[in-house]
Amino acid sequence: MTFLSQRLYNFLEWTQFYRDLQDYGNSLIQMSVVDSIYRQTQDAHVIQTRLFEPEIPEWVKKAVPLRLDILMMFGTLPNSLGKYHKDGFTRKAALNVPLNGGDKGCIEWSAEDIEELKIYGPRKEVRISKKEQTNLGFRFDLPIRDRMTLSQPVLLDTNEWHRVNNLENNEYRFVLSLRFFGNPDLNTLIKLFDTKKTP
Ligand SMILES: [Fe+2]
Repeated sequence: MTFLSQRLYNFLEWTQFYRDLQDYGNSLIQMSVVDSIYRQTQDAHVIQTRLFEPEIPEWVKKAVPLRLDILMMFGTLPNSLGKYHKDGFTRKAALNVPLNGGDKGCIEWSAEDIEELKIYGPRKEVRISKKEQTNLGFRFDLPIRDRMTLSQPVLLDTNEWHRVNNLENNEYRFVLSLRFFGNPDLNTLIKLFDTKKTP
């Protein structure tokens, strides 16, 4: 059963680079932006900030073993459940670092397939659930394949159905996410971020 044994994430050790990234990400947090995107989308898990390659600080670009495509910051409302989604078609995997509240709540992957709706936009494509998109406030209660709390930096699979579960957390949850050119999958990133070579 390759489906069930396939790994979905791989933790990395904390280093000074990840602590610096954490400080940098925390300095960008704007809860009012998260609130305002939530009012428009009714999705409690939002992308607060997107920095494309030219806007990403040089010290970040230099430290990673692959060319960076985008730096994103996610914000999730307290006591909320994000919608199921798969990230952009060109974003199979990510390197995530917990920011303020990022070590609370969890990412959970569905054990079942979901009917998808593709959303296209300039530099933004995402696959979301047709049912959650068309039924305001509806959330699936499907069997969970795996859950992961970001207690440390992590490489994770964003190409399978997943969502952010922040129901038990009374605070906003912020996470910084790096995506790479060439659309590497999780196994490729794991090899490149071998802990011995980790920045
Ligand atoms: Fe995601």
